[in-house]
Amino acid sequence: TVLATKAPVIVAPSMDANMFQNSITQDNLAKLKARGFTIVDPGYGYLASGKVGLGRLADVEKIIGTVKQVLGRSGDLAGKRIVVTAGGTREPIDPVRHIGNRSSGKMGYAMAEAARDRGATVTLITAPTSLPEPASMEVIRVETAVQMKEAVTKASAQADALIMAAAVADYQPKNVAEAKIKKEAPTLTLELVKTPDILTEVKGNLIKVGFAAESEDVIENARRKLEKKKLDLMAANDITAKESGFAVDTNKVTLISRDGKIESLPLMSKREVADRILDRVVGMLDGRSVELIIKPFMIKLRRIRIDSDKRGIFPPLGTGFDLELDDGSVINTYIDKRTGQIWKNIRQWFKAHPELKAGDKVIITVVEPLKKYRLEIIK
Ligand code: C5P
Repeated sequence: TVLATKAPVIVAPSMDANMFQNSITQDNLAKLKARGFTIVDPGYGYLASGKVGLGRLADVEKIIGTVKQVLGRSGDLAGKRIVVTAGGTREPIDPVRHIGNRSSGKMGYAMAEAARDRGATVTLITAPTSLPEPASMEVIRVETAVQMKEAVTKASAQADALIMAAAVADYQPKNVAEAKIKKEAPTLTLELVKTPDILTEVKGNLIKVGFAAESEDVIENARRKLEKKKLDLMAANDITAKESGFAVDTNKVTLISRDGKIESLPLMSKREVADRILDRVVGMLDGRSVELIIKPFMIKLRRIRIDSDKRGIFPPLGTGFDLELDDGSVINTYIDKRTGQIWKNIRQWFKAHPELKAGDKVIITVVEPLKKYRLEIIK
């Protein structure tokens, strides 16, 4: 049956540790991998032989996670890299104490799993939680806001989207005591300093989604944060509402997008909320670039016409924007009101590409919405 099937095949080996580590088994597994089979590596622990070693059948959760990832390979996020943060950061006071918060990590983990199941390559950057580690994604464990910022900055350099579901501490102790603080003094004053705002500091051509846990003026505060942090989407929730917010499996959020659109979702599972957010991310990722086919008149006149159905990502006709060319130079240009063509300063690009012919495809990608774009030839 396995030889006949066209379905993806997942193998979860389970055997004695010496058998598993034997080079014959390892060679056979490598051969299966090379043929496109997916292997779920066994776990470490007690074996049927009575010994302890590597050979226990992988956790059922891990096997199910792998099945979901393999089935999701052709999902609407296939080929996309998504960074998700989760959990509440911990800011140390001394070697045994920290400032924490009530985040359970459930929303972030649901986001990461949903993205994985839709085909994305996921990096989950998580502060401590009591949740089991999700399968088939890169998991980076951090404790503090500063560590989370470092991990997010590194992972985001390659990412298409960053979803910040973590509850990041806003303040950290200015000095961390080297030894456990004694409880002799009747009062204790801690001096706190601001942590870096991760969402604000991560730059680049990626979709940024934030969560705003609010206890009053939910929409207004969330909208203000979306502006301040330059986000594409904000998921706002009222943490005083029952069955919504921390530690529960359900959430009631309102999605606010950069264009001002507000959508209030009903109470639903965190997984469903995650999928609704990802629906929006998919839409935004699709809307980040336009593909154009070069026509003979464009080469002759050294102009690029943007068809009317493809002008949505650009500023209004006649309004200037920067266009980065493939040699790294940046020109300032606009789409002409009358002709729908980009002609100002674009001649140099045509001159640099004498090989360009009708039928070739180019792609224009948003670098900074309404301000900066990149023009590339699709080979
Ligand atoms: O400002 P506030 O903390 O309410 O904003 C919430 C959003 O900002 C969340 O998405 C959270 O992950 C993110 N955040 C951040 N860096 C901080 C604090 C919050 O990226 N230092």
